[in-house]
Amino acid sequence: MTTKALDRTRPPAAGHRRPPGFINRWRARRAARDAWAAHHRLAQAVTAEFREACTALRLCQYVSVAAGVTVRTPRVGAVHAGPPMSLSVELMAGQEPGDFTSRENGPRLAHSLGGHGLRVEPLAGRWVRVTVLNHDPLRDGFGLPSLAVASGSEPVILGRTEDGITLGHAFTDAGHLGAQGQNGSGKSALFYGLLSQVAAAPDVLVTGSDITGLLLGRAWDGTVHRPHQVVGTADLIAHALLLEDLVAEMDRRLEAIPPRRDRVEPSPKTPTVLVVLEEFPGLLRAADALPKPKRGEGVPVGDRIRSAVLRLLSEGRKAAFRVLMLAQRFEATAVGGGYARDQFALRLSFRVPADSLEMLHGTEARALGQEHANAAPGIAYLSGLGRDCERIRVPYLGEYGEYVDRIQRFGRRAAS
Ligand SMILES: Nc1ncnc2c1ncn2[C@@H]1O[C@H](COP(=O)(O)OP(=O)(O)OP(=O)(O)O)[C@@H](O)[C@H]1O
Ligand SMILES: [Mg+2]
Repeated sequence: MTTKALDRTRPPAAGHRRPPGFINRWRARRAARDAWAAHHRLAQAVTAEFREACTALRLCQYVSVAAGVTVRTPRVGAVHAGPPMSLSVELMAGQEPGDFTSRENGPRLAHSLGGHGLRVEPLAGRWVRVTVLNHDPLRDGFGLPSLAVASGSEPVILGRTEDGITLGHAFTDAGHLGAQGQNGSGKSALFYGLLSQVAAAPDVLVTGSDITGLLLGRAWDGTVHRPHQVVGTADLIAHALLLEDLVAEMDRRLEAIPPRRDRVEPSPKTPTVLVVLEEFPGLLRAADALPKPKRGEGVPVGDRIRSAVLRLLSEGRKAAFRVLMLAQRFEATAVGGGYARDQFALRLSFRVPADSLEMLHGTEARALGQEHANAAPGIAYLSGLGRDCERIRVPYLGEYGEYVDRIQRFGRRAAS
């Protein structure tokens, strides 16, 4: 083929019979053929990489045949170049979609295919779609729209998973929530988001203790919640008194549970009580540093706080009490003992050293320890909600001023 033959700038030679547009149609057909061939080469290469990676990761079956042992790998159907690139794969007998995304296999398989992570969705029968994600799906921010739920039984937005699912959390459903994370890892910001979403609900009361005075306190001035919050370190006995009052209310509720019922139904009269304990180890440290009363002259303030929180944790769920504890590290001694720590149904770890991650989430989290030790603010590791442990990005409502504005706008006020 000469370039001359393709040169459309030249006028056709005299007597030329080619139909108009012939060259264009011919070029389009050739381009389509080239594209198809390129795609076919890509599909073959991706399939080969996928099968090799499956063999290396033992996501395969070894079959004995007369000639020896042969390796069977999951069958690859169509490959879509994307982006993001995806391939349909037929699982082999005994395989589950989770086998491809597990902590051990997921990142390795993704790296073999030139990506950062994988998403596996069921298609039909044993077929799944494996999507190769090009970057960490949690890298992008997740802004929290200005919204408020009308009841504690409605889910509030807790975060977004790696496969893009938005997780909701209804305070009436789940048990207590514990969150740990180093300085500046995003613990308080998560709670700014959670509390601003429930501040308006008539069947929720936001109470608790906050030695920093930022999460609770001034931001809540004028709302019905504020009288049930104690802030600062000037009067630590006030923190103990508040928590003991909450225990007394819990006992009253437990006694008043109607027959044939085993828990209190939250309502505007008996609201779900969120007991927020911001920087709880700091509160215990400050209380333990107070002079101890003489023998027989009362209980040390630190011990009063510890035992009140322990009672709320162990019996509060039935009485519609939910403890929300924040700590930089959930060490047993720092949060009132190993028993207290075990009561959190929902556990979140923002950036923490590997040993802290394992302490709160068990050995399952070990593989992620090193990576999570450098997690960006707002990225957390979550256990609970009946799902496998997973990384999420929690929503971010913005600057602190925005939190104050939302609480002032939505915060429930006494009926006038
Ligand atoms: N979800 C998020 N998305 C993006 N940025 C965030 C997010 N959460 C927090 N940040 C950023 O990180 C900063 C620190 O967050 P935050 O104050 O919540 O940390 P913290 O864990 O409470 O720290 P400390 O232990 O010091 O109280 C915020 O000012 C904000 O800039
Ligand atoms: Mg904080």
